[in-house]
Amino acid sequence: PRGFAVSQLSVLGLATLLASGVSAQTLTRDNGSPVGDNQNSQTAGARGPVLLQDTQLIEKLQRFDRERIPERVVHARGTGAFGEFVASENLSGLTRASLFAAAGKKTPVFVRFSTVVHPSGSPETLRDPHGFATKFYTDQGNWDLVGNNLPIFFIRDAIKFPDMVHAFKPSPVGNVQDPNRYFDFFSHVPEGTHMLTRVYSDQGIPASYRMMDGNGVHAYKMVNSHDEVRYVKFHWKSRQGEKNLTRAEAAKVQAEDFNNLTNDLYAAIRRGDFPKWDLYLQIMKPEDLDKFPFDPLDATKVWPGIAETKVGTMTLNKVPDNFFETTEMVAMAPSHLVPGIEPSEDRMLQGRLFSYADTQLHRLGANHQLMPINQPLVKVDNYNSNGAGNPGKRTGDVNYQPSRQAGSAVDDSQHKYVATPLAGNTQQAAIAKTDNFTQAGSFYRSLSKQHRENLIGNLAADLGQVKNAEIRQIMLSHFYKADTEYGTRLTAAVKGDLTDVQQRAKALVD
Ligand code: HEM
Repeated sequence: PRGFAVSQLSVLGLATLLASGVSAQTLTRDNGSPVGDNQNSQTAGARGPVLLQDTQLIEKLQRFDRERIPERVVHARGTGAFGEFVASENLSGLTRASLFAAAGKKTPVFVRFSTVVHPSGSPETLRDPHGFATKFYTDQGNWDLVGNNLPIFFIRDAIKFPDMVHAFKPSPVGNVQDPNRYFDFFSHVPEGTHMLTRVYSDQGIPASYRMMDGNGVHAYKMVNSHDEVRYVKFHWKSRQGEKNLTRAEAAKVQAEDFNNLTNDLYAAIRRGDFPKWDLYLQIMKPEDLDKFPFDPLDATKVWPGIAETKVGTMTLNKVPDNFFETTEMVAMAPSHLVPGIEPSEDRMLQGRLFSYADTQLHRLGANHQLMPINQPLVKVDNYNSNGAGNPGKRTGDVNYQPSRQAGSAVDDSQHKYVATPLAGNTQQAAIAKTDNFTQAGSFYRSLSKQHRENLIGNLAADLGQVKNAEIRQIMLSHFYKADTEYGTRLTAAVKGDLTDVQQRAKALVD
């Protein structure tokens, strides 16, 4: 826990430590005992074997052998920074969340940026969606807004996520990423057309994390003190503007510095050029959810034409002192919510509510929320107990609730989840309005001539590697269905059969 070393010193008394010969500079073993020689192992004479009784040697090797924890199953390559969020509005009419309760209210944050598919230590120049996850240390506990740079996602149901990630990750045979595998998957998943179009635009390779926007992607619910609900989408807009790399530029940067995104972020913060993002909200009434040709709770959709309201600004101003203890051990989870911010019924978000906390119990252990980077600023008071890595700070014999004993923790009904009306039967069925292609086409048409050309080139470079003609033709028909010019140019670029593409596109259901 925070302050452990300081409290230990004050309990024992610095004078006692000094008297025993353990000065502040003395190297110690993990049990605190001083180390006499950290350069030479204990041996049986000048040429004899090394002795098992050299406990400093054994402990040093044992600890080294255990230095790695499992890397994140996705988003393994990341970089982080500390900063501050300042609310610009009093949003108490919209949400009970106290971080938005007054203009000027400050909340400390930690942000972790990442790529998605590629492993820890991979080049930061690779095409991918990019993670933009923010932990707000609020005075009602931690709120994590775990988003991406792109405003939508590939799929709309969490049950497809493990298969999609398997298809994107390296082949189990050769351990190399392979477009044959992920386009095979997406030839069955037309709702991926919008996200694929965005990932293969230049937004798939940001030039700098400072010059990248962020999105919560899903709708969340904001709930006020009268239990009134609004659906909201979150959007971070970079004040540094947006800058991306073309394929050719990325290849050049990669040859010179494949840690370019981390180096750029750290260098800017260290020279005092603190990056800033404004946070915007799109807001929708529950009764308006059915008024669109698409389902607003579908993670493959943006909300076009809905105004954005600025609600605050975040500044990143400190590089972490230790990468592992912060960026690697941070546990960002969509289930870390605060009163006044609740999940929507988005089927992807619902799966994410379970998946992050679950993987973190495996990746970091049962007590990971007590690690300094994850610890809330407020006092944590509950009876979740014991487990590996427990720092041990419990007192008293009440480890259950409710209790009549003085001082025991009680729940507070003002923080209950909002009640949501339900109708119908349990079911396993696709959503009613899939509308798989319209927004992909709108995005394509919003691009400049040059950016369309870059998109076609980027996509053709990978789709052109697909050996199976049926997979290639189906993928082309999805892009053709989104926009005929887009599909026609792409078909020409990969030397596909346009008549077949057109027929397949005609047969596609929206
Ligand atoms: C990381 C699962 C969709 C953004 C992760 C991790 C898992 C995961 C297991 C690793 C977490 C850790 O080890 O700490 C899922 C599932 C999804 C999904 C099951 C769909 C059902 C999304 C979406 C977004 C997203 C839609 C963007 C809105 C992120 C980010 C991280 C992450 C930014 C890295 C967090 C960090 O920096 O520590 N995801 N994910 N994921 N995911 Fe997802």
